[in-house]
Amino acid sequence: MRLKALHHVRFQVCDLDEQERFGTDFGLVTAERTPDRLVMRTRGGDQCAYVAIKGDSDKFIGLGFEVDDAASLDEAVTDLGASAVEDLDLPGGGKSVSLIDPDGNTVMLVHGVMRGDAGDAYPELLLNTPFEKRRFGRNQYGRERGPARLWRIGHIGLFVKSFHASTEWYARNLGLVGSDIYHIPGQPQAQIVGFFRMDRGEEYVDHHVVAFMQDERGGCHHISFEAQDFEAQQRTHRYLGSKAYESIWGVGRHPHGSHVFDVWRAPDGARFETFSDTDLFRKDHGTNIHDISQVVMDEWSDDEPTRYFA
Ligand SMILES: [Fe+2]
Repeated sequence: MRLKALHHVRFQVCDLDEQERFGTDFGLVTAERTPDRLVMRTRGGDQCAYVAIKGDSDKFIGLGFEVDDAASLDEAVTDLGASAVEDLDLPGGGKSVSLIDPDGNTVMLVHGVMRGDAGDAYPELLLNTPFEKRRFGRNQYGRERGPARLWRIGHIGLFVKSFHASTEWYARNLGLVGSDIYHIPGQPQAQIVGFFRMDRGEEYVDHHVVAFMQDERGGCHHISFEAQDFEAQQRTHRYLGSKAYESIWGVGRHPHGSHVFDVWRAPDGARFETFSDTDLFRKDHGTNIHDISQVVMDEWSDDEPTRYFA
């Protein structure tokens, strides 16, 4: 089977009102709201990217990937032991099956979802540099300082109880391929963190669709949505700060994957990230292995990302 994209993430949340307020300020758009469920989308044409079910505690439930064809759903039932194919009860419809990963997270495979219309992008930045002038006789077109315009859900970070067991499961069942993997200093076999991408053969995909971090807590580490560019991220960073939300880390740039990141705390405690300008790789790019002590995590600062891992 071939994964097409991350489709949605699913959480249980105590206070849907607070979560919807944050999601809206962060840049998501409410697609459905009932007393028991909040569904939010991006402006990129998806009808669903974030799902919160009302419950008596805040916790991660699972994630869903869109797959290339309906046959992949049947294949998952017969070959991987997935649940029977059923209608997907989310905006956009489609069919789905469910698997359970080694940590008990629900992993849905989805096909046949309807997409909506994409929203308007900001005019592209025309940057004047010392070497090239591209903008004449006008200023940068104005943009609001407010919620980001987000275009898709791009990746998820998972705390996993066993890095080996989880990455082996996602590679074997869903075809994920390591892009950059990190081991304990001096112990190349002791891998503990890794960024994994989809296998779409010759097609270029994001540097990672899932990041795995070995941590006994399990659950979700962060979810990440693509912003248009770092100008949009900076403006949203200031806006979220003005609303007194908790900034966790950023704005910065990761060395591996290259993406500009900005991470914030949602009311349920989950980390929400915007990213832009990520690297693209194909299947044949292979996997890079690193000693974790040698890796700079943010090229723009030496800020200790204590809240990022707390
Ligand atoms: Fe991320």
